Amino acid sequence: MNRATHIAIIMDGNGRWAKLQGKKRIKGHEAGAQVVKSITTFCSNHPNIERLTLYAFSTENWKRPRLEVEFLMKLLTSYLKDELPLYLENNVRFEPIGNLSLFSKTLQKTIKMVEEKTAHCDGLVQSLALNYGAKDEILRAMNRLKSVEGEITQELLSKTLDCKHDVDLLIRTGGDHRLSNYLLWQSAYAELFFIETLWPDFRVDDLEKIINKFAKTERRFGGLT
Ligand code: IPE
Ligand code: IPE
Ligand code: MG
Repeated sequence: MNRATHIAIIMDGNGRWAKLQGKKRIKGHEAGAQVVKSITTFCSNHPNIERLTLYAFSTENWKRPRLEVEFLMKLLTSYLKDELPLYLENNVRFEPIGNLSLFSKTLQKTIKMVEEKTAHCDGLVQSLALNYGAKDEILRAMNRLKSVEGEITQELLSKTLDCKHDVDLLIRTGGDHRLSNYLLWQSAYAELFFIETLWPDFRVDDLEKIINKFAKTERRFGGLT
């Protein structure tokens, strides 16, 4: 039986969910934030899950209308502030990934504050991918490694990325079958699950079903079993 130690999720479908209800797209993002809470709590109480890495804002999402981007920034700030007690209660360490330098100074401070206040937690690590793009992450790592003498190994590059851990199970909600620039290096051997459910409708039961399916998958890593 495989253990889903590191789960990564592309939380997609907030806008479509809202549209289906005759609501504005931002209502979908609000509903999506609630699901982040329940899934994080579930994962923090699961014996096998060590990391949960959630795609919250991509390097490409800046292309959206200004008002939606501004709303997402505000939502992120309030989510982080509200979440702090829940992180602490569930012994969850918060570790953002992505290029945070493009966010406002206030948002950067809030992110840092939550990171510092949860630094001692040794349960689940919840990473939010914020202004994250795998190509950008790899390039930033390569630039950091420029001055290294000698060969750059896979181990060294892995250690230099924002997310240093291979993904076991990658889930995308919302029905599309693509990775949208998410964890390309770390997902080299991840098991991929694409589901139709829109993110605000995703529930702990759905995750449990996927984990059970994943547990029975034969992972060969190029070898034979
Ligand atoms: C995912 O939902 C959340 C973010 C990208 C911030 P979307 O906003 O992409 O929702 P759809 O895909 O348009 O329905
Ligand atoms: C991926 O969703 C990014 C996040 C979930 C944060 P998008 O909605 O941005 O991806 P595309 O545009 O459909 O590929
Ligand atoms: Mg989308």
